[in-house]
Amino acid sequence: ELVDGIRVLRITAQAGTHQFRAGEDVSTWGFDGPYGGPTVRATVGERVAVEVTNELDESTSAHWHGMHLPPDMDGGPHQMIEPGDTWRAEWLLDQAPCTLWYHPHPHGATERHVYRGLAGLFYLDPAPGSAEAAVEEQLPHTYGVDDVPVVIGDKSFSDGGELVIDDGGNEVGLLGDVVTVNGVVGPVLQVSTERVRLRLLNASTARTYSLGLPGRTVTLVATDGGLLRQPVELEQVRLSPGERAEVVLAMEPGEEVMLHSFEPELGNVVVPFAVGANDAFDVLRIVAEGELSASPEVPGELATFGLDAASATVRREFRLSDREINGAEMDMARIDETVEVGTTEIWTVINDDLSPHNFHVHDVQFEVLSVGGSEPPPELGGRKDTVYLEPGRAVELIMTFEDYADPQWPYMYHCHLLRHEDEGLMGQFVVV
Ligand code: C2O
Ligand code: CU
Repeated sequence: ELVDGIRVLRITAQAGTHQFRAGEDVSTWGFDGPYGGPTVRATVGERVAVEVTNELDESTSAHWHGMHLPPDMDGGPHQMIEPGDTWRAEWLLDQAPCTLWYHPHPHGATERHVYRGLAGLFYLDPAPGSAEAAVEEQLPHTYGVDDVPVVIGDKSFSDGGELVIDDGGNEVGLLGDVVTVNGVVGPVLQVSTERVRLRLLNASTARTYSLGLPGRTVTLVATDGGLLRQPVELEQVRLSPGERAEVVLAMEPGEEVMLHSFEPELGNVVVPFAVGANDAFDVLRIVAEGELSASPEVPGELATFGLDAASATVRREFRLSDREINGAEMDMARIDETVEVGTTEIWTVINDDLSPHNFHVHDVQFEVLSVGGSEPPPELGGRKDTVYLEPGRAVELIMTFEDYADPQWPYMYHCHLLRHEDEGLMGQFVVV
C-alpha cells in the first residue's frame, strides 16, 4: 500500500501451530502466520514504513538484517515492542538491490525467538532503469517460479513432537537434527525453466551449512549485500547463520537433483562433532519438468562497486573470545565504539577461540579485505554484512558509515550464532 509516497507494510508477530511434517502440529511463532514470515519486497529508492504488531505474550522486536537505515529504525534490542503494541519503522531504501531478512533481536532471547520461527526475507528490488535492473532481467526473477526463496532452519523435536528450545549442551548453541526449508521437512521444488535462482538464507541459530549439488557446480551471483562483480562457479557454498547467497542452477529436462549440505569446512575446530562439522543433510529435492522454458545465460559481468583501502582513516580491532568482545560482554548501557559519520574504516575481527563464531555489523554492508592474512576467496568478493570466522583467524573488513549520525541510538555488532549473541558476544556503536 502506498500512502503519501511511502510504501506501507504491516506484519504481526503471533503464536500458532505449524506442520513441518504433514499431520504433526507443532507450537511455533511467525510473522503473519504460525511460522516464518512473508517475503517483503520493495524497490531501492522507495521510502518504506513497516508497522509491526506484537501479538505474542512477551516483548520482541523486528530487526532489518543488512539494512542501511537510521539506528532508531533498526529494530535492535533498544526498539522493543511490548505485547499488544505496534511499532512503526520508516526509512529510505538506499543501498544496492539485495536479499535481506528480518528477525527479532530481544537481548538475551534472540535465539529462542528466531528458532521458534520468527524470520522472513526482505527483497530490495533494483530501481527501474538502473544498471542492476538490466542485470536482473538476465537472471531468473519470477518469484516462486524460477526465483525461489530457500530459508533453511534446523530443528530438534521432543518426544511429544514440540520444538526443543534449549538443548543446553553444544558449544555453538542448538544443533537440530532435522533440516527444514521454508518450514517444510523433505521439500520438493518443481522447476519449469532451464535455470533457477535460489535465494538461500541460513536462518539457523547455530549451524553452518555447506550447500551444493553432488557432482556439479552452482553459479554464485550474489551474497548478503547484492550482486558479485562476476559470477563464481562453486562446488559448495558455505553459509554461516545469518548469511545469504543467491545461486543459479542449470537444469536438464526431466532431471532430479538434490541440494545437499556437505560436512562444512569450519576450520581448525577442537571438537568437530560438537559444532556440526561432521553433519551432512539433504536439503531440497529439485525436479525438472520434461520440457523447460528457455532462460537467459547468466551475464559475465554483474555489478561494479568497491571501497578503496587507502580511503580508510580509522582502524579498529575486535577480539572474540568466549562471550566477550575485546574483554567485555554486551552491556545495553555501554557504548563500545564511536564512529564519525562519513568515515571509511577497516575493522580487524579475530576469533580467539577454538570453535566457530561469525561477525555481523548493523547498518552497513562491508567488503572483506583479507582472511587469515590472505586475499579472500572469490565468493567473499562481494558486499557482506555477516562473515564466518574460523577459529584462530582474523578477517579484515572495510566499510563506510555514510550517514544517519545519532549519538543517542546505537547499532550492534555481534556473533550471529544466536546463543553466543544472547550470552553477551555483542557490542554497540554509535555514529556521530
Ligand atoms: Cu541478524 Cu544483529 O542481527
Ligand atoms: Cu559466536
